[in-house]
Amino acid sequence: MSPRLPTPRPGILDIAPYVPGKAHGTAGRTAHKLSSNETPLGPSATAIAAYRDAADKLELYPDGSASALRAAIGAAYGLNPDRIVCGAGSDEILHLVANAYIGPGDEAIHTEHGFLVYPIAIRSFGGTPVVAPETNLTTDVDAILGRVTDRTRVVFLANPNNPTGTYLPFREVRRLHAALPPDVLLVLDAAYAEYVRRNDYESGIELAGSADNVVMTRTFSKIYGLAGLRLGWGYGPARVIDALHRIRGPFNVGTPALLAGAAAVADRPHLEMAVAHNEMWLPKVTYELTNLGLTVTPSVANFVLIHFPDAAGKRAPDADAYLLDRGIVLRRVGAYGLPNALRMTIGSDAANTETIAALRDFMKGAP
Ligand SMILES: Cc1ncc(COP(=O)(O)O)c(C=O)c1O
Repeated sequence: MSPRLPTPRPGILDIAPYVPGKAHGTAGRTAHKLSSNETPLGPSATAIAAYRDAADKLELYPDGSASALRAAIGAAYGLNPDRIVCGAGSDEILHLVANAYIGPGDEAIHTEHGFLVYPIAIRSFGGTPVVAPETNLTTDVDAILGRVTDRTRVVFLANPNNPTGTYLPFREVRRLHAALPPDVLLVLDAAYAEYVRRNDYESGIELAGSADNVVMTRTFSKIYGLAGLRLGWGYGPARVIDALHRIRGPFNVGTPALLAGAAAVADRPHLEMAVAHNEMWLPKVTYELTNLGLTVTPSVANFVLIHFPDAAGKRAPDADAYLLDRGIVLRRVGAYGLPNALRMTIGSDAANTETIAALRDFMKGAP
């Protein structure tokens, strides 16, 4: 007789674990880690100072309502702090949304090359992920709408999307929202919004502020340089935010993150410096890599998706191994349905220059 063992709920063991970007090159050598879209500028100096101050208060529970941080976010983005919920990374907010709105028998839609946390969150609560194909590695609103059924509870949309770097003009987001049933929650994941410089782009602040079924998620992990602290937030209708507050851990964000986040979001010059660095390098990296004969998907974020030739010795896994030998770590994106591409984060001047040079050698066949 087989022993009785604790068994996860149906579907949990069908979840493919999230595999983060590698942290090290071959033999532990890491010259440049460009695998997780972290900022080369690091966090604001005021955020680091606030983090250090938190060391004097570690025996105390954090402020479970995150009121100072919500006020700081509200001031920086012009939002009502009462309609903000903070979490341990925007990953936690995405899971809270799935927990509150998705259950067994429900469906939730994400796009073909969408962020892999969506299907994990959907399946975690017993839901079924439904994949909407993309067109030219870009969200296709009609493909999403064509997959809405009476079981659809949530649509997850990363705008800009990771790992493609493409974006949906906001008129298209509005068209999607207008055609969704009012009881379907539209999640606008704007993790890279601060980087985007396009007149037809909006992160979703106004829509999440006015519609009853739109929530926007944001992160401190990317442009604010606080990925190690795990901090993100969501903004949306009072009813949705109230639901998320009810199920979050009572102290889900630690004091160091609360203090550092509030300081980071108030440091506008630091953010602008990061945008300027990206604005300088994003077109340059795209241009240089294209000149090497690689195909680069036009990106509006702080990373580029690089497509490799379908030729022996020249494919993405070959390039990855070649770069790792030099201590340069990019992101394999096979799990995103892009086996012959690598994603490169825009890094420091040295990181970008050396990565371009290494890829030039790789394409030339240099040892
Ligand atoms: C599109 C997108 N959403 C959300 C996240 C999660 O960020 P975090 O949990 O660090 O806030 C990421 C991180 O890679 C992302 O690319």
